[in-house]
Amino acid sequence: MQDKLNRKLTDLRISVTDRCNFRCRYCMPEELYGEAYEFLKRDQVLSFEEIVRLTKIFIKLGINKVRLTGGEPLVRKDIEKLVSSISSLDNSIDLAMTTNGYLLDKFAHILFDSGLRRLTISLDSLDNDIFQKMSGKKFDIKDVLAGIGSAKDAGFEKIKINTVIKKGINDKGIIDLVDYCKQEGHILRFIEYMDVGTLNSWNRKSVVDSEKIIDIISKKYSIHPIKKNYSSEVADRYQFDDGGELGFISSISNPFCMSCTRSRITADGKFVTCLFSNKGLDLKRYLRSKATDEDILNLISESWLIRDDQYSLDRSLEKGKVKNKIEMFQLGG
Ligand code: GTP
Ligand code: 5AD
Ligand code: SF4
Ligand code: SF4
Repeated sequence: MQDKLNRKLTDLRISVTDRCNFRCRYCMPEELYGEAYEFLKRDQVLSFEEIVRLTKIFIKLGINKVRLTGGEPLVRKDIEKLVSSISSLDNSIDLAMTTNGYLLDKFAHILFDSGLRRLTISLDSLDNDIFQKMSGKKFDIKDVLAGIGSAKDAGFEKIKINTVIKKGINDKGIIDLVDYCKQEGHILRFIEYMDVGTLNSWNRKSVVDSEKIIDIISKKYSIHPIKKNYSSEVADRYQFDDGGELGFISSISNPFCMSCTRSRITADGKFVTCLFSNKGLDLKRYLRSKATDEDILNLISESWLIRDDQYSLDRSLEKGKVKNKIEMFQLGG
């Protein structure tokens, strides 16, 4: 099954909650998402049974990867039960999770024992003040670092650390992060700051291009590009000459839409075919109707067949503005 631009559907990213214990300025600024903000109510969020049912349908459609995202997936109650159900569906499915790491110290072993083998942790700075400024909470960076340590102890290998660099905010800490990840054996990936959602007042000038970051790193370490693991991988991979891996996700300076095989499900069950969409197919409505699995499979495939999303590419060509984009915390990264 291919979309209008000949791209297959191979990846499913499931947001399990719109809630988060952080308030990152580039995602859900505290002043807009304070006490008064109404997150989805429990019955608006897909149940684990509904998520598993959908995952099975997507497996029939040919996906080979599932990533659990949020908000913050670890704030969803009993998340390990969902991990366990999905990991036992099909051995060939690559199951991963993206987390901010704050609750990982408590959850790492439980997740591993539930069958999760791949973890990506977001970490924008090792400096506590900058970390607090970016995450919008007065949490201690030590807790996130303890979480990453527990993940390693639990048996997770090739842990990925995702860092969003904002010019003038955390760009001075690039080398510290590289040193830390190199020493710990984690794969550090720099994500170019993106214009996701509607709230982060994104500005091209706040982006530090991957090329610039590569220059900064190259002053201290010899690194060289290596091949992607698979053709739709978002990161350009690099290796230190003396071992260890790095990645660069350059959605602004070098969009990768032409190989985009990713689909997303929001916490309230909308099927979305681009990170920058303003709409999605309401699968929850069908899950809670008399629709059969086959009906739902057909709806998803119809929606994929007419997909022509290429937002990042359009942005780079300065065309095709999208209004009222879905927010990052509703869609997952
Ligand atoms: P694996 O290769 O499976 O490890 O995962 P991944 O490289 O897809 O990593 P991850 O899911 O952590 O993605 C990293 C970040 O890249 C996300 O948090 C997003 O910020 C960005 N990203 C992922 N997919 C897309 C995409 O389709 N479009 C754009 N513009 N950015 C994306
Ligand atoms: N630009 C780039 N990456 C972002 N993320 C969240 N918002 C943005 C943005 N505006 C990243 C987080 C996390 C993942 C879920 O997405 O830092 O790593
Ligand atoms: Fe939470 Fe992730 Fe959004 Fe930060 S980027 S507020 S950790 S969902
Ligand atoms: Fe895929 Fe949309 Fe990202 Fe392009 S902008 S890579 S189409 S999710």
